[in-house]
Amino acid sequence: MIRVRGLHKTYRDETRTIEVLSGADFEAKAGEFIAIRGRSGSGKTTLINIIGGLDRDYVGEVRVADKLLHALPEADLAHYRSATVGFVFQSFHLVRHLTVLDNVSLPAVFARGESRLRADEIQARARRLLAEVDLADYAEVLPSQLSGGQKQRVAIARALFNRPPILVCDEPTGNLDATTAEEILELFARLNTKLGTTLLVVTHDPHVARRATREVTVLDGQIHGGHLHPRVPPPSPGETPRPHSDIAAPEATP
Ligand SMILES: Nc1ncnc2c1ncn2[C@@H]1O[C@H](COP(=O)(O)OP(=O)(O)OP(=O)(O)O)[C@@H](O)[C@H]1O
Ligand SMILES: [Mg+2]
Repeated sequence: MIRVRGLHKTYRDETRTIEVLSGADFEAKAGEFIAIRGRSGSGKTTLINIIGGLDRDYVGEVRVADKLLHALPEADLAHYRSATVGFVFQSFHLVRHLTVLDNVSLPAVFARGESRLRADEIQARARRLLAEVDLADYAEVLPSQLSGGQKQRVAIARALFNRPPILVCDEPTGNLDATTAEEILELFARLNTKLGTTLLVVTHDPHVARRATREVTVLDGQIHGGHLHPRVPPPSPGETPRPHSDIAAPEATP
């Protein structure tokens, strides 16, 4: 599903050059739930931004869902970002003037080709996702009326809207208290089992790491534990992500 080989990432400005990743290797099988740990500044966000197609200024091979990312034209990379990877951030990144429902359906704006939906399909899918994250009654409210945990659940529903096989989360529980963080973890575990979504979760929280199926550590430019765990069963034929229909009932076809 994800295979990173010899990844080098350097940041440069007028005064300094720092090599954050120096020949790092990492792989993840479809359906894994991987906790990514490491000290502040070790390169965790850098790594997931590259895997998520947000940053293409690196040296090395990054292959995700059978796509070699650096070889993709910009338009295909944009499609990859919208269809293959969902992003969840520590600070939620909800759009303040849009209702919860409209926040969840925002990714529909970026869908193209076959993945474009009719307005009623968009609504229906967003409502089902809200129900799945236990926010069915909050569709019409603005994000400012929600608690931190509720905001994060909206952000997760939004990240899942285009049914990406991979969810990338950068300290998703960093702004939440322990109980709320635990609820978000429950949700991740459920998504991982129910949809087979591959989860990459950057975290400082040992509870998250305990929920994960594998833990990797970014340290001194390398990714420790980044190779497939020997106990993980061999990949199923094809190794393609199973296309999840949806969390709840499938949409009525026209
Ligand atoms: N745009 C940038 N320009 C210059 N340096 C950067 C940039 N982004 C990150 N860095 C540097 O790269 C290193 C890794 O940053 P990164 O954000 O990946 O760390 P991190 O492991 O996510 O840290 P944290 O746990 O604090 O979020 C840091 O030393 C940081 O200062
Ligand atoms: Mg970071």
